[in-house]
Amino acid sequence: MDKLAKNFASLNDEPAFWEAANKHLTRYGPAFEEIIVERAEGSFVYDADGRAILDFTSGQMSALLGHTHPDIVATVNRQMASVAHLFSGMLSRPVVDLAARLAALAPGLDRVQLLTTGAESNEAAIRMAKLVTGGHEIVAFAQSWHGMTGAAASATYSAGRRGYGPATAGSLVIPAPNAYRPRFKNPDGSNDWQAELDDAFELIDRQSTGNLAAFIAEPILSSGGILELPVGYLAALKKKCEERGMLLILDEAQTGVGRTGHMFAFQRDGVTPDIMTLSKTLGAGLPLAAVMTSAEVEQKAFERGFLFYTTHVSDPLPAAVGVTVLDVVARDGLVEQAIARGNRLKEGLLSLQQRFECVGDVRGRGLLLGLEVVADRHTKAPGFELGARIMQEAILRGLSMNIVKLPGMGGVFRIAPALTVSDSEIDLGLEILADSIESAQLAR
Ligand SMILES: Cc1ncc(COP(=O)(O)O)c(C=O)c1O
Repeated sequence: MDKLAKNFASLNDEPAFWEAANKHLTRYGPAFEEIIVERAEGSFVYDADGRAILDFTSGQMSALLGHTHPDIVATVNRQMASVAHLFSGMLSRPVVDLAARLAALAPGLDRVQLLTTGAESNEAAIRMAKLVTGGHEIVAFAQSWHGMTGAAASATYSAGRRGYGPATAGSLVIPAPNAYRPRFKNPDGSNDWQAELDDAFELIDRQSTGNLAAFIAEPILSSGGILELPVGYLAALKKKCEERGMLLILDEAQTGVGRTGHMFAFQRDGVTPDIMTLSKTLGAGLPLAAVMTSAEVEQKAFERGFLFYTTHVSDPLPAAVGVTVLDVVARDGLVEQAIARGNRLKEGLLSLQQRFECVGDVRGRGLLLGLEVVADRHTKAPGFELGARIMQEAILRGLSMNIVKLPGMGGVFRIAPALTVSDSEIDLGLEILADSIESAQLAR
């Protein structure tokens, strides 16, 4: 312990750090966690006291291989020392390698543009869809998150719509299917998502000015509370798009690169989108995104003069990281591991549901799971406060999880550990979660 440390109970409380943070940092979202993170490794981040905190959100749902994975560290060092960034019109080997590798993994999506962030990839996808279809109307789910920039923010409905002036003209919305809280029901009480989809598109057709360009969707709406599109939904959605001459854009920022137990989530459904965007997981924590489309759509876009020219397009450093991510995922069988570890985690969460009345629902697949906290199991009344308390108890006990709060839903924990998570780390997380729920309930 150094000299300074002796003056506070915890090194996380260092006054100079927090004074500077409070004075100089812009507050861009929910409150900052009250710890100082010094380093991270594998499934854990370590605070200023050296305390290990199990990271069940893989950073911002991105550190697919855990933190500071040795292969990523080696690639960054190697590539940084040869070439990291170039004039945007220059090509390098990692860029062409990554494009070819991605295309081989997603037959029918042969053309790839490498960018930086999720929002940016969705900007490019939406821009391309507008140019190719000649339309401008973009339909999205009412619980979506596609990013914080112009067109992506206009297609984001789960948060942040108020106070920023008009969204892009032609921003249309439909409800996402929610099996736990169905709006349309089959006679047996299950979700009649087809009736809901038909009804929604009837409204889209009434609102549209005849300029539909694309539907943008997450295969599992993450910020929307881990709402999984049921089997058959994507095919039905694609049909709705085709009937109207719209493109289907799938945003696989969180679901891509193995997390759901398929390389890409859409592969479960056998429905290839017209455009797919990848980000978060592709760079495993470094800023890398890809926009993938068919040769046909790319050709049409090219003929119409497609322009999406950015400073970091086709940069070799993040591309080399992307190649390493794909190498490690294949070498270590991480797609299969996402299924096995995901099953273990889901079984554990389901047993928490048996044990605690406040666990209303457990959902998701692979290693992208959700646990909805309710105040009342029978009425399904939202349990926001209890959820927030559970989250606080968890971080005190060394588990970091993220809770989303959306109107009409309980607080939903999004649980997305790294694909490299071990069985014992999963068990540890479940144990801490159980203790946290117990303690939060007692504090009621
Ligand atoms: C599905 C999805 N798309 C896009 C984004 C935006 O990505 P970024 O924050 O990298 O711009 C996010 C971020 O949370 C996301 O979850």
